[in-house]
Amino acid sequence: MHVHDAELVISAVNPSQYPQDQLPEVALAGRSNVGKSSFINSLIARKNLARTSSQPGKTQTLNFYAINQAFRFVDVPGYGYARVSKDFRLAWSKMIEKYLSQRENMELLFLLMDMRHEPTRLDREMKDFAENLDLPYAIVLTKADKIKPASWNKHLSMYKKALELPSVDALFPYSATKGYGKEEIWDVISSVLQL
Ligand code: GTP
Ligand code: MG
Repeated sequence: MHVHDAELVISAVNPSQYPQDQLPEVALAGRSNVGKSSFINSLIARKNLARTSSQPGKTQTLNFYAINQAFRFVDVPGYGYARVSKDFRLAWSKMIEKYLSQRENMELLFLLMDMRHEPTRLDREMKDFAENLDLPYAIVLTKADKIKPASWNKHLSMYKKALELPSVDALFPYSATKGYGKEEIWDVISSVLQL
């Protein structure tokens, strides 16, 4: 996909601030620091449109990015970040849950998980949440560049088993730094959104 236009539309906290039109949205979810913002930047080949950080907890609002005026990416704060207060964590999870369960524009959800490690309890819960709500989703295994290609199959099997998936087809190894997986992800987006 050639991205000729990408801009931040709004950083929202409440549904009243969400854009009020019919553009389809592709949302991301995953724990803090897994690489959600980097995923957006690498897909659209913009270095720092979505702000990233080596410190977890960088993204704190729902950030809507319009792409080619055809759809929007929605970058969300990560879950599982220990160094914020309980109240703050609760407010965050409510904000994300509200978006995921109520937003009619959302047509696709990418669940990002760190390919190097077993999925966490929250990763498994996120996948169950998507299944229970019948949200169309795909699982992106980030930081694939940190694993030797010879070990990829082992990690894919680990994820298939831990998430009780029927096959490895729903798993997409990805590297924001090396660009692995970009084409496959664009294929998923184009086919689900019928772009
Ligand atoms: P929050 O906004 O805190 O939820 O984090 P996030 O999920 O948006 O993560 P972010 O994109 O800010 O990336 C976190 C760190 O991981 C940064 O230091 C990135 O450079 C690094 N990172 C992200 N993707 C990759 C990748 O594919 N490979 C490698 N090696 N590093 C990555
Ligand atoms: Mg982020």
